[in-house]
Amino acid sequence: MSRTTEEQMMTDASASHDNAPKRVLRDEDAPGVVAIAVVATNGVIGDGHDQPFKFPEDWARFKRVTLGHPLIMGRRTHDAMGLLTGRTNIVVSRTPQAVTWPDQAPEGSHGIAVSSIEEALAVASGLDQRIYVIGGGQIYKAAWDWLTDLDITAVHEPADGSVTFPEISAQDWSQTSSEPHGEFDFVHYARISAPRPLPPATGDAVADH
Ligand SMILES: NC(=O)c1ccc[n+]([C@@H]2O[C@H](COP(=O)([O-])OP(=O)(O)OC[C@H]3O[C@@H](n4cnc5c(N)ncnc54)[C@H](OP(=O)(O)O)[C@@H]3O)[C@@H](O)[C@H]2O)c1
Repeated sequence: MSRTTEEQMMTDASASHDNAPKRVLRDEDAPGVVAIAVVATNGVIGDGHDQPFKFPEDWARFKRVTLGHPLIMGRRTHDAMGLLTGRTNIVVSRTPQAVTWPDQAPEGSHGIAVSSIEEALAVASGLDQRIYVIGGGQIYKAAWDWLTDLDITAVHEPADGSVTFPEISAQDWSQTSSEPHGEFDFVHYARISAPRPLPPATGDAVADH
């Protein structure tokens, strides 16, 4: 399967998204463990290989908000996306020694393979106070109890596929904003119930790649 790079996804998006100031303090930099996902009306996020929706504006926003923060992802999502530039990519696998890396790492990217979500969170919290969990389905579920925020691109139509986003229950989550963008909305949820405390941070994590 060929990889679709972030840059290819963003081809049609306004360059100004990517050139936005990166270290000015914004809500998007507040401490938290944030799941970010594109979700269809029927909860589908993928078919196990690829995502059903690719909106250049959404990809540009994904890059802007996650840039500089550590990313946690499942091995399958890593296989599909490769290393993302300007971010530490923490890949969760039951056989981390078998995770593969590109010969040439993209600029500013680092890759670390770990064997559990707890280890991923420990490494990530040693790097930054804001951590993004970027999928896929297994990893959103595994990280669910630690999440403080959900950053959802809610697409207005259903999709085919067997991989779904966990149910967002009104008991645990409060919708705090919704921004319409034509075919989709950017919707933010904050956790009402207390998240599980993060494991102790791992200092001096060394990138595998
Ligand atoms: N719409 C979106 O926003 C979005 C975002 C990301 C991905 N996706 C889609 O989601 C799909 C992939 O999701 P997926 O659920 O199939 O795979 P995934 O979550 O990306 O990765 C699954 C892999 O993670 C590892 N893993 C899972 N739980 C683990 C645990 N508790 N401990 C250690 N390792 C663990 C295993 O790797 P090993 O097999 O190496 O042990 C497992 O095979 C694709 O279709 C992708 O396009 C959609």
